Amino acid sequence: MNTTTQKALENELNAVVQSLTLDEKIGMIHGCTLFKTRGVEGKNIPPLITSDGTMGVRAEYKDDEWALNGNSQDYASYCSSNTAIASTWNVEFARKSGAVLGKEARGRGKDIILAPGINIKRNPLCGRNFEYLSEDPYLVGMMAVAIIEGIENEDVAACVKHFALNSQETERFFVNVDVSERALREIYLKGFEMAVKEAHVRSIMAAYNLYNGLHCCENTRLLKEILRDEWQFDGVIISDWGGVHNTENAVKSTLDIEMSVTPDFDDYYMANPLKKMINNGEISEDYVDDKIRNILRLMVRLNMITIKDGIVSKNTARKRGSYNTHENRLDILEVAREAVILLKNEDNVLPLDKEHVQKLLVVGDNATTLHANGGGSAEIKALYEVSPMLGICQLLGGNTEVKYAQGEEAINLAKEYDNVIFVGGLSHDYDVEGKDRDNICLVNGQDEMINKLLDANENTIICIIAGSVVDTSKWKDKAKAIIYMPYNGMEGGTALAEVIFGDVNPSGKLSETFCYEDSRILKDDELAYPGRVLSEDEKKNMNANLTQVFKEGVLVGYRYYEKYNIPVAFPFGHGLSYTKFEYQNVKVDVTDKDIVVEVMVANVGKVVGKEVVQVYIGEKNVSEDNPIKELKAFSKVEVEQGTSKSVVMTIPKESIAHFDEEKGSFLLKEGEYVVYVGASLEDIRAKEDILI
Ligand code: GLC
Repeated sequence: MNTTTQKALENELNAVVQSLTLDEKIGMIHGCTLFKTRGVEGKNIPPLITSDGTMGVRAEYKDDEWALNGNSQDYASYCSSNTAIASTWNVEFARKSGAVLGKEARGRGKDIILAPGINIKRNPLCGRNFEYLSEDPYLVGMMAVAIIEGIENEDVAACVKHFALNSQETERFFVNVDVSERALREIYLKGFEMAVKEAHVRSIMAAYNLYNGLHCCENTRLLKEILRDEWQFDGVIISDWGGVHNTENAVKSTLDIEMSVTPDFDDYYMANPLKKMINNGEISEDYVDDKIRNILRLMVRLNMITIKDGIVSKNTARKRGSYNTHENRLDILEVAREAVILLKNEDNVLPLDKEHVQKLLVVGDNATTLHANGGGSAEIKALYEVSPMLGICQLLGGNTEVKYAQGEEAINLAKEYDNVIFVGGLSHDYDVEGKDRDNICLVNGQDEMINKLLDANENTIICIIAGSVVDTSKWKDKAKAIIYMPYNGMEGGTALAEVIFGDVNPSGKLSETFCYEDSRILKDDELAYPGRVLSEDEKKNMNANLTQVFKEGVLVGYRYYEKYNIPVAFPFGHGLSYTKFEYQNVKVDVTDKDIVVEVMVANVGKVVGKEVVQVYIGEKNVSEDNPIKELKAFSKVEVEQGTSKSVVMTIPKESIAHFDEEKGSFLLKEGEYVVYVGASLEDIRAKEDILI
């Protein structure tokens, strides 16, 4: 939008603001139902209607109680989890997934979809890791920008969440995060900064936790100084539900809308209490006017309204969206196929030949468990969900005897069957909002079951479905074939079966390190207060001194494991294919502003496949507090068997700068660096020294 148009819009917004009463304005800045704010009927200002979540549009709740309406028309398409989307390393597919979410939200009459979740996966234990993208800020940012663009192209606002530092569920309402400015800037805010500056995201959800002693929903440093003043964010900031605890702090922090979980809507901090403080002259009404301008600007951008001469009109040109369509489900399946990660494939046990599999034994809870309707606010009333068992049976048809067995029976049968598939992992009993896991071990005796199956049939295929890392140490070396699939939407079972039987050549890559339980990050200082129970007084007065020190600084995820040379089960960026790629003619050029990397990717195998070329950069002589190397570019490319394709990636030099806490800004240190080109963090195919 050019300056003149921008200026004209601001004048129109001001005219509308002047025409509203205080009551009308107050009604627009807090929930009047659990998921909606009030409009101003007499002035054609519509309510703002929000909905969860990160994997689809949540079922309809009653206006004033956490009870489902029980409609028949709120079944929804169930998309891949954010972890699965990131595992595709396919920016176009992230955009496609965002577009489906946007269409579905618009189709259900929503204005804001409370997604994507982009908090850094700092701790493998975090119960909501399935709703987040990665441990790496650059991968988070690239995927978040694409998802947001996909959503917002459908006349729906994304609401990127949770701003900021919400990387654990333990005591999430009270935990006060103590993090260095450098780690804040380089790791925890990076994805949000890209969402604002590159995707121009239209709304942001402020988090429950505290940062530097102030709740994020009232944190002027985060919301005003960084988000608004530094990044020039002019969208709408919405509190997490129940995240506001003080009227003046929230209003002055530039939070725009307070949402909460109780039906006393007019008693919310930014409702009658605010009106009273304004009428008493304790707070200027100007603060409210700023919020109204942000909300009206959002409505114009969503094509909800037009404004002419200060008069608001409904915009009839707004996209109508569509939900539960065949097209949406095809897009969901396409994304799901690329989210399946082949971790190991010794002796080319995979793919199985569906023409020759006469008898197949399937074992494990996750072969039949459905996951859509779990996880907390991300729950989805899915139109359907294809389990792995259904996906396998659909694909094989009637010529293969497929038996499902559990427990001991399964062990005995495993000796008789040529092919055995185990599908285990976790469920939303463990990957869930509001709590963290105690460890990353598999549950319910799965390790033992896997070993027994492998003893009975060494070619047993191990499939793990989970929202985050699980420990594989007990069987990883013994198993020949291992697949990991994050919660992968309504077609997850279809996609998994298609990879197992070779209809799809897997191209997923880990977006987080598969560490071991014995050596995982933060093991020795779990959540700062293991077992700490808050007193009622602490809860009531929100004065709990629960400080979580992010003492690892920028050394999060692979940055930590590689720096301290800690072995991992499967490294960041790892994922195998049924074909083989060679990287040829790697060239690295340094221009005045950029580092340009060119790679010829040759498919020297027998089937077409997709490869994710990754570029990491680190100092030649690594400083004490810097990671060895960091992801700075990636590109996914499809290459036909027997052919090659050139991949060119341009990396702005400024992207390898580190945040200098003394200067309070990013600083590019001149000197020698190394450019690593590889198929994962550890599978480096070429490296070049450069001078910056
Ligand atoms: C929850 C979650 C947030 C969700 C909101 C509305 O507590 O933290 O992600 O969008 O409330 O359900």
